[in-house]
Amino acid sequence: MSKDSQLNKTYLMENQEEGKRLELKTDREAVKRQAAWAGIGPGMRVLDVGCGTGITTDALAELVGKTGHVTGLDFSEERLAVARERYGSENVSFVQHDIRCPFQSSPPYDAMWTRFFLEYFRNNQQQIVANSVASLRTGGIACLADLDNNSLGHSGLSERLEQTLKSMMARLEKDFDFDPNAGRRLYGHLYCLGFQEIACLGEMHHLVYGNSSEDEKYNWIRKVEVAAQQSGCPFTAYNGSFEEFRAEVQDFLNNPLRFTYTPLILARGIKTA
Ligand SMILES: C[S@@+](CC[C@H](N)C(=O)[O-])C[C@H]1O[C@@H](n2cnc3c(N)ncnc32)[C@H](O)[C@@H]1O
Repeated sequence: MSKDSQLNKTYLMENQEEGKRLELKTDREAVKRQAAWAGIGPGMRVLDVGCGTGITTDALAELVGKTGHVTGLDFSEERLAVARERYGSENVSFVQHDIRCPFQSSPPYDAMWTRFFLEYFRNNQQQIVANSVASLRTGGIACLADLDNNSLGHSGLSERLEQTLKSMMARLEKDFDFDPNAGRRLYGHLYCLGFQEIACLGEMHHLVYGNSSEDEKYNWIRKVEVAAQQSGCPFTAYNGSFEEFRAEVQDFLNNPLRFTYTPLILARGIKTA
């Protein structure tokens, strides 16, 4: 695939149910706690880059309170329509923009938050961060949050399932600009862009064992289904059958012996002039 056609590609997880997946998997309290750790608080004007259907934007709005304001930014008009209807208010607004181009705002923001977003830009991540902080004031806070070892931290997989997941991920990296290890690069982006007072935090985003909840199972099966079909994986170990592969994933998700973990890394820093 040429670089141009990669750039023209839309979002890897694009499908009709993506809004539902984003809402179900979001833990509002975790977003508020992590954003507070970064220094986001009452009265601030915050930009939420890659906001999806707006649940994170709304969680951030709770944190900044009535005297603050949060703008959710996304390039999907469909998800933004849902976001506006569900969460639009006096201190929450939404803007459509493709962040592959710099985003400017007047007045500038006090903080920029982005989560589960940079992983979709493996080759151009630092430029995406630069575009996202272009509208941040000097002295403003940037907080980047993303997964590491994404979708690969499972115990209890059959050998063929483990190999198939690894080869799917390799295809997504190569052909879809996806970065399963975005988390470990966040510090470097802030450092190279001259941010000061950088601090990092590591947490478990998914630590799943025993009988997992229906929401967790739904999130995982949607991730696997959409990514598997997009990746063009031939499912050789399953005689070419996506259905056979999917059934084995489903069995794994239902097996109480299943153990899965996904590290989440956050990096925050202060913008210098
Ligand atoms: C996985 S969702 C992240 C949602 C939310 N930040 C969260 O924490 O759950 C990624 C979002 O990024 C948006 N997106 C992808 N590429 C984009 C781009 N180039 N510019 C703006 N938004 C983009 C997608 O439309 C999608 O809503």
